[in-house]
Amino acid sequence: MNVLLIGSGGREHAIALKIRHSKNVSSLYCAPGNPGTENIAKNIPLNVSDHTSVKDFCSQNKIELVVIGPEQPLVDGLADYLRAFDIKVFGPSTKAAQIESSKAFAKKIMIDAHVPTASFVEFTENHLSESKEYLKSANYPLVIKADGLAAGKGVLICTNLNDAQSAIKEIFEDKVFGKSGNKIIIEEFLVGEEASIFAITDGEKFVCLPAAQDHKRIGDGDTGKNTGGMGACAPAPIITTELLKKIEDEIISPTLKQMRETGNAFIGCLYAGLIITESGPKVIEFNCRFGDPETQVVLPVLQGDFLELLYSAANENLDINSVKYSGGSAVCVVAASKGYPDEYKKEFEISGLDYSDEEIIVYHAGTKKENGKILTNGGRVLGITSVIKNYDLKLAQQKAYSAIEKISFEGMYCRKDIAEKAFKHLK
Ligand code: AMP
Ligand code: GLY
Repeated sequence: MNVLLIGSGGREHAIALKIRHSKNVSSLYCAPGNPGTENIAKNIPLNVSDHTSVKDFCSQNKIELVVIGPEQPLVDGLADYLRAFDIKVFGPSTKAAQIESSKAFAKKIMIDAHVPTASFVEFTENHLSESKEYLKSANYPLVIKADGLAAGKGVLICTNLNDAQSAIKEIFEDKVFGKSGNKIIIEEFLVGEEASIFAITDGEKFVCLPAAQDHKRIGDGDTGKNTGGMGACAPAPIITTELLKKIEDEIISPTLKQMRETGNAFIGCLYAGLIITESGPKVIEFNCRFGDPETQVVLPVLQGDFLELLYSAANENLDINSVKYSGGSAVCVVAASKGYPDEYKKEFEISGLDYSDEEIIVYHAGTKKENGKILTNGGRVLGITSVIKNYDLKLAQQKAYSAIEKISFEGMYCRKDIAEKAFKHLK
């Protein structure tokens, strides 16, 4: 099978590697890809927002499956466009991608399907004074979310009235999130640990991959600013077999059914971001794609044919037995640029990438190649991931941190406590 993978991050490097290991893959192309995917696929400098050129590439290269990694091309309708030409696509339509592109849409689906989520109210920018009035009698902390896509920055946790008033001013008056902030959700603050679940679905049948735990804050002990994710581990021991069954029955299954029945059938990876509260798992967000860095730990603990899983979902006949949990464990520590998630400098040379260990995968996320050298090219630069055969997260953590010592670039920063909070759930 000839496959085209869209995207250029750590997630796409992880997906590409897994597809490369399938017995069914012939040519694998990445658009645009990164220096990590270059070694396992052919990177193609396609402009993915130009849908016609993606379609032409598919026809010229006899592409049988397109896998779309990031949310933006999905929200922009790339999957719909290609499907209209009978090209198989792993990734939802624009309508189904609303589950990520509009928090109000996601809330409506959850309310109608009785899926547990934080209680909330919704305001549009025409109701500035009502929203300010609401804040005066609200309980704190609370969470204010821009309705639309905001590159992971649209969620503001407010500990008091003052914070909340400035958040609303920034969103509605200063328009810091542009049109994505025309509407907001004000939500109950949930207490508990987070977990990420990937449900691979053909719109009807689904299979959940091993659960992961992301570490979203920049600082050790979950302090400081929110980021795209500073590291992850899988399988996350907070999600027991019983809890996963509950999540499947009470969250994933009713959500997919509601999506189908409202004409928004979802094909692809439905990502449920959960908080495990005292009263059970609740959804804080849905994404319409694989999470990053979670993909960098979930995919390596799968055995079987991952390409078959994606293709069968795209072909609307999901093969739920194409992959299963390998019994192993993985820990990914993100090496970030100093200053991230705010301003940071780029183009520092990365050394140590020739280091090799069969239990370590160094995923490229924000890198580029220039004159034969690999340079930093983003906030999250590399995902240094240990993958071991047994379920031993402590050993996996140790291995990931010793591998990191071999790699360096100016201003390299990483959290020192990735996977630590999982340990208390280990038996
Ligand atoms: P999101 O971009 O929706 O993943 O939100 C970013 C982060 O904000 C999450 O990973 C949580 O740590 C936090 N968060 C979002 N919603 C809530 C909530 N209702 N209660 C507590 N924390 C939340
Ligand atoms: N790691 C969080 C996300 O991919 O949205």
